[in-house]
Amino acid sequence: MNTIVTVDLDRPGATISKHLYGHFAEHLGRCIYDGFWVGEDSPVPNIGGIRLDVVEALRALNIPNLRWPGGCFADRYHWTNGIGPRAERPGLINTQWGGVAEDNSFGTPEFMALCELLGADAYISGNIGSGTVQEMADWVEYLTGTGKSPMADLRRSHGREQPWTVAFWGLGNETWGCGGNMRAGAYADLARQFGTFCQSGNDTPLHRVAAGADGADTAWTKTLMEVIPEIGAHPFSTVPWESVSVHYYTIGGSWHAKGSATEFDDASYWSTIVAAQGIEGLLRSHADVMDVYDPEKKYGMVLDEWGTWWEVEPGTHPGFLFQQNTIRDAMVAAWHFDVFHGFADRLTMANIAQTVNVLQAMLLTDPDGGEMVRTPTYHVFEMNKGHQDATVLPTTVVGPAHTADGREIPVASASASTKDGQVLVSLTNVDLDTPLEITVEFRGGTATDATGRLLSADRPDAHNRPGAADVVSPITFDDFEVTPTGLRLTLPPHSFATLTLRLD
Ligand code: AHR
Repeated sequence: MNTIVTVDLDRPGATISKHLYGHFAEHLGRCIYDGFWVGEDSPVPNIGGIRLDVVEALRALNIPNLRWPGGCFADRYHWTNGIGPRAERPGLINTQWGGVAEDNSFGTPEFMALCELLGADAYISGNIGSGTVQEMADWVEYLTGTGKSPMADLRRSHGREQPWTVAFWGLGNETWGCGGNMRAGAYADLARQFGTFCQSGNDTPLHRVAAGADGADTAWTKTLMEVIPEIGAHPFSTVPWESVSVHYYTIGGSWHAKGSATEFDDASYWSTIVAAQGIEGLLRSHADVMDVYDPEKKYGMVLDEWGTWWEVEPGTHPGFLFQQNTIRDAMVAAWHFDVFHGFADRLTMANIAQTVNVLQAMLLTDPDGGEMVRTPTYHVFEMNKGHQDATVLPTTVVGPAHTADGREIPVASASASTKDGQVLVSLTNVDLDTPLEITVEFRGGTATDATGRLLSADRPDAHNRPGAADVVSPITFDDFEVTPTGLRLTLPPHSFATLTLRLD
């Protein structure tokens, strides 16, 4: 069956926020330590202790934001342990992730320096689970205070005269679970209180994110959204957050038997695709609740954790969540982005978990300072970066499905956007072994001078590793036929392509 992808050039939709391509870095395993931070004395090339290879690779993605310090770690993190001279910072045990020593050498100044090097907005996840309102307010003041105040003066005493710019602030993380095991109503009350005292001290207002639901728990979202009419009724009160989050992980197996990242059979491949495709219904269900309370879409939905979650690589620390990443993971990412683009009018940020060495990472670093590896997922982010801050173009896909266990699994996905006189079309074929014949039809205008790139592999378990870092890497794709209204092409099995055209 031929797949027809139709792109309406004359019906521009919402802007695809660049923040849908956001990232997440937690004090978990080797994400911060070894991943971003090696320290100033490391033989690994670094700038002020931050790995240069990682910074350069992420800058090439136009990384828009970075969420830190957790995750579950966030509601155990007390920021004052990570400021001032490093030699004087207290050590502690990271009880959440592996029970390993944490020396706090990477704290607030190091995170802000990292964001400046990356050119990324800071998204700080505050501690509601075990912190106080005062502690959080002090952290905001330390970061953003301009005038003479205790926390701004403390920052100055640490050598930083100017406040930093902080764009996003999380009001706790997974407060239904590791962030405090709260009920929705109890959390909503706390978030109202904490959010009220989270006010930027400089010209950049904090965009506050209320910690959202566990997957499909729309009742949680409803409880948070009910705050809007309630607080709006008071003349001197404003809603103490700008967005509500949700988390969704793609788990190909079950929570207790997630399966290997690299050794899987066809059934595991397809169950992963089904799980990934679940993102659309999940976002729809939460967006529908938000629409009831906020039809004008003033409040954002933030998917601040998403991605694949496999068993850890054999021989690695079970609490470090280090996993490999194959072209199957790239399929998951590509599918997610097409869905994200379809929600551009409500979904304002998404953060893949996590950027380096943890879960569906962009980059894998060698603990001994060897070659850094870009994963297949990295390449999807890179090939898709032209969608950042572009205008979405309505795209429909009519294509075949794979049948497994009595279920029809669509295999074709696409999305398109326009920016600066160009059109970017993303195309995905998740079929395991059947190429996809695709006709791309442009309507309401013409787009010409197509160039293409392809991310493909002979095997679905193909991945990159030190010594074989480019097994899965984009190549030029020009095997398409130009038609009077678009293009015709064949997309190999489990592959992802982007086409860039000029809008005439
Ligand atoms: O990303 C790993 C963990 O997954 C995060 O710390 C937590 O928020 C989620 O459960």
